[in-house]
Amino acid sequence: MPRSKSSSAWLKRHVSDPYVHRAKAQGYRSRAAFKLLELLKRDGLLHSGDSVIDLGAAPGSWSQALIERVGRAGRVIAVDLLEIAPIPGVTIVRGDFREEGVLQRLEDALGGKKLDLVVSDMAPNLSGVRATDQARSIHLCELALEFARAHLKRNGAFLVKVFQGAGYPEFLAAMRSAFIDVSSRKPGASRGGSSEMYLLGKGLKARTGS
Ligand SMILES: C[S@@+](CC[C@H](N)C(=O)[O-])C[C@H]1O[C@@H](n2cnc3c(N)ncnc32)[C@H](O)[C@@H]1O
Repeated sequence: MPRSKSSSAWLKRHVSDPYVHRAKAQGYRSRAAFKLLELLKRDGLLHSGDSVIDLGAAPGSWSQALIERVGRAGRVIAVDLLEIAPIPGVTIVRGDFREEGVLQRLEDALGGKKLDLVVSDMAPNLSGVRATDQARSIHLCELALEFARAHLKRNGAFLVKVFQGAGYPEFLAAMRSAFIDVSSRKPGASRGGSSEMYLLGKGLKARTGS
């Protein structure tokens, strides 16, 4: 079957992408590892012994980078709808983060311990309807933010992938009301044409009201 124009363009970009080559050479499961590595370095996030949850973790390149950084004394819990092949030292929870049962399994895995970092690279399966995809993506961001607020240490940090579009200003406002310091990041490995960016919240604000 002949390739469509868009899949040929994707293939061409993929084979000439330096991050794809680096990922292969360094044993990362995806080029996405370099987005996280850049952000961790730039913002001085995560140290040996830290605890972190990786939301939307398949195929696992962020979890690979995270466990390298926190080491044996640290903790990495990865969750995804899709299967993640085992990564030594990483606890894997397979399921839908929107479901109560999966949240419960994550909480059980935490055993009441607070986290230093919550990262979310979650992206919904695309329906092709832009408004629907954007709404689903923002919903995942909101759930991840709620989880981070409930489980981070006071001086913890939350890194979340977000697509600019409908709902983004409101989500940014929610980040600003949850964290003392909020910055936006576009790592070098993030493709230029994509509206994808990352928001980083540092230092939880105390909740006001109920
Ligand atoms: C861009 S990929 C993550 C790549 C990953 N950071 C890595 O470096 O290998 C986004 C992931 O979000 C997951 N995802 C989307 N919705 C989810 C949900 N409701 N619950 C759990 N995972 C979800 C997808 O299955 C997909 O694997």
